[in-house]
Amino acid sequence: MTTIPVALGARSYDVRIEPGLLVRAGAVLAPLSRGRPMPIVTDTNLAAHCETLVASLAAQGIAAPVRVLPAGESTKSWAQLESLTDWLLAQGVVRSDHAIALGGGVIGDLVGFATSILKRGCNFVQVPTTLLAQVDSSVGGKTAINSKAGKNLIGAFHQPSVVLIDPQVLDSLPQRELRAGYAEVAKYGLIDDAGFFAWCETNAAALFAGDPAARAEAIGHSVAAKARIVAADERETTGTRALLNLGHTFGHALEAETGFSDKLLHGEAVAAGMALAFAFSAQQGLCPVADAERVAAHLRAVGLPDGLAAAGVSADGATLVGHMLHDKKMEGNTLPFLLARGIGQTYLDKTVDLAKVAAFLDGQRR
Ligand code: GLY
Repeated sequence: MTTIPVALGARSYDVRIEPGLLVRAGAVLAPLSRGRPMPIVTDTNLAAHCETLVASLAAQGIAAPVRVLPAGESTKSWAQLESLTDWLLAQGVVRSDHAIALGGGVIGDLVGFATSILKRGCNFVQVPTTLLAQVDSSVGGKTAINSKAGKNLIGAFHQPSVVLIDPQVLDSLPQRELRAGYAEVAKYGLIDDAGFFAWCETNAAALFAGDPAARAEAIGHSVAAKARIVAADERETTGTRALLNLGHTFGHALEAETGFSDKLLHGEAVAAGMALAFAFSAQQGLCPVADAERVAAHLRAVGLPDGLAAAGVSADGATLVGHMLHDKKMEGNTLPFLLARGIGQTYLDKTVDLAKVAAFLDGQRR
């Protein structure tokens, strides 16, 4: 078992990574349960994993009532939040209890937010089942639902008590979802770790082929990077945690243009967004062109979109910049951009001229 601490003072917790951990989860969670039930919230795609988890808890004498929600982004809604909190209350949950989020980012975000407000805050455990959730959204305590005005606009910082990652659950994940999650893995290299990006270039094929060592290394390295960044800037106030948004501003515009739908998954939009952030940085003379080309080449090599056309977007620059202005990262009249001086050298720039971004995007249309 690899254990990675997230050091946040009184809110510190461990991320535990081990193939087969789902089968042993009951023993790991027994000290948190203290004989109390642990309600599980999951989605319709995860019946087999849920059965494994329920059996593992039952073997330790822990009751685990299950709530199964529809799979998909629309579950991050006020209506689902209301019915989930009603259900948790009906289970008799008290403040010191732990609910378990078994699923991808949607389930993790919803359960995290529900437990942040239930009885003014009770506890939860993350058991992420997608690569994206394992390397990003389950760690760091960002929780939210969507509102009519946009994604993730209603939420709270609420840290889990523990994160249990079983890389074997990725065996049943569709390849497209695996690729989308991989964008966030490569992101850790692009942010501040050129050596890890080189590792990604060498080992991505093995990871996609299911090699357990490559998967363990990719997840462990990513979680350690995320833990370090979150410990340095839990609430995204100093700019350090904002580095995790590399590719997200360009990506947000692409997601908005494609209707936040299955046409372009979040991780796919982040991949195209990272390629665009590097290409824009290169066009502005900030970053070597060769680095931007290397980023795009790697994303293409693993089957991720490397720009507008590959993301299926043909809108002009003004339209895409218009979408960016609705991004929750807007600060007054400025939109902070993550730009790059090279691979592993990303930085936050709050002075980017949006007219230049629009002109750049026009030049990227094919
Ligand atoms: N996914 C970005 C963050 O956790 O800050």
